[in-house]
Amino acid sequence: MKRGIILALFALCLSGYGQAQVAVRIADTASKQVISKNLYGQFAEHLGSCIYGGLWVGKDSPIPNTNGYRTDVLEALKKLKVPVMRWPGGCFADEYHWMDGIGDPNKRPKMVNNWWGGAVENNSFGTHEFLNLCEMLGCEPYISGNVGSGTVEELNKWVEYMTSAGDSPMANLRRQNGREKPWKVKFLGVGNESWGCGGNMRPEYYADLYRRYATYCRDYDGNRLYKIASGASDYDYNWTEVLMKQIGDRMNGISLHYYTVTGWSGSKGSATTFTPNDYYWTVNKCSEIEGVIQKHLAIMDKYDAQKKVGLLVDEWGTWWDTEPNGTPLYQQNTMRDAMVAALTLNIFNRYSDRVKMANIAQVVNVLQSMILTKDSKMVLTPTYHVFEMYNVHQDARYIPLTVEVGKVKTASGAEIPAVSASASKDAAGNINITMANIDLDKSQEVTIALPFAAKSASGRILTSKNITDYNSYDNAEVVKPTPFQKIKLGKGTVTFTLPAKSIVAVTLR
Ligand code: AHR
Repeated sequence: MKRGIILALFALCLSGYGQAQVAVRIADTASKQVISKNLYGQFAEHLGSCIYGGLWVGKDSPIPNTNGYRTDVLEALKKLKVPVMRWPGGCFADEYHWMDGIGDPNKRPKMVNNWWGGAVENNSFGTHEFLNLCEMLGCEPYISGNVGSGTVEELNKWVEYMTSAGDSPMANLRRQNGREKPWKVKFLGVGNESWGCGGNMRPEYYADLYRRYATYCRDYDGNRLYKIASGASDYDYNWTEVLMKQIGDRMNGISLHYYTVTGWSGSKGSATTFTPNDYYWTVNKCSEIEGVIQKHLAIMDKYDAQKKVGLLVDEWGTWWDTEPNGTPLYQQNTMRDAMVAALTLNIFNRYSDRVKMANIAQVVNVLQSMILTKDSKMVLTPTYHVFEMYNVHQDARYIPLTVEVGKVKTASGAEIPAVSASASKDAAGNINITMANIDLDKSQEVTIALPFAAKSASGRILTSKNITDYNSYDNAEVVKPTPFQKIKLGKGTVTFTLPAKSIVAVTLR
């Protein structure tokens, strides 16, 4: 009793002096739930400098390239182990006509990118360039089809062009354009944001349209499409309800978009200049995705108790003001963005029994990107480092855990748990635990209780002096992972100090 009081007083003193306690418990490591690698997916839209200048510079560019793809970006993405990439949009997808992007690049027609600043799109990056990029990265393509302004025939022919092996008109056209073998294309989005930029439809109307489109998107020669219905924006539960009721038996997946954004009109706030209150607002807003996912899942469970239909969060991330003089939606990326990535990925891992894919918006130069480029310069963002540290969870077995931790009270009165965590077991039997301490001031004394005695431990940490720190072209390594050494192993316990505003990945063997 006396010892208990002394320990409690000790804990109180520590928390008063900037340190608190976290108790993590892992009871069982034998779960069968797999964290799909596709939760770590990317999104590339014809928007700003994501494609042109970011991924693609063309073969004649003075910027070092591999057949037109930026070599530096290609190498960085290979290290990230990108599992899946969504293309060509976004809003752009519902105005994109794929036939404009095939054949001799010099003869491809131009178009105006009406959604994104009226830039002239010369279509030099089209179907072949995208699908070849996926092959080079070893990732699955996710094609977002045009439902808003296209036709059923156009989408049907695109699928045939990409995936048919036979003596069919579209397969022969593909051959004429230099590609004998079909590509493997599994993921097909039937429209994007059909409630908004993809056609401003009502869910009942979209559901009927989906039936028509999906009927003619065929499985050619062993290619099996995974058809994804254009799903809700964050809190629009009625959209999910109507789609699940009317076409739940005709889709493989339904999407969800959730942005950490202050609002759709007016300033969204600076990416790099913000107060602690702004930071905690962001952390709270990004954490709200958990409740949003739970509500969509509850609706899906009502119509599909066997969880045949996946929920795919195919757009998510932070959305700040575009940098002065930046291309559309080009924003810097600080340690705050890294925190959003860490918290969100821990949540996705937790719901991996039904959440089967997620695609952060976007891969290069747009919104919460992995990579920023300017002419021949490239920088890896703090968010890139989180994705790289977390890729140990890809296709690993999810391990449930409980976290007992104090809460951080924000200026708006919201209370957020100070630490977020998730764990998995990889094919080699290693246990990987990722944790984030959102608190700007207090470190956390972490004790993890395990059902076994770990023989060794290693880890990496991502943190920075200021939460506003970012990597710039002149100073590219301000925020980067470093070894995390002081991990103590006991009999069935692991203990370490999680510094304020830090993210760690620990491997136990
Ligand atoms: O990612 C940027 C845009 O956000 C996408 O084009 C659209 O789908 C969403 O509104």
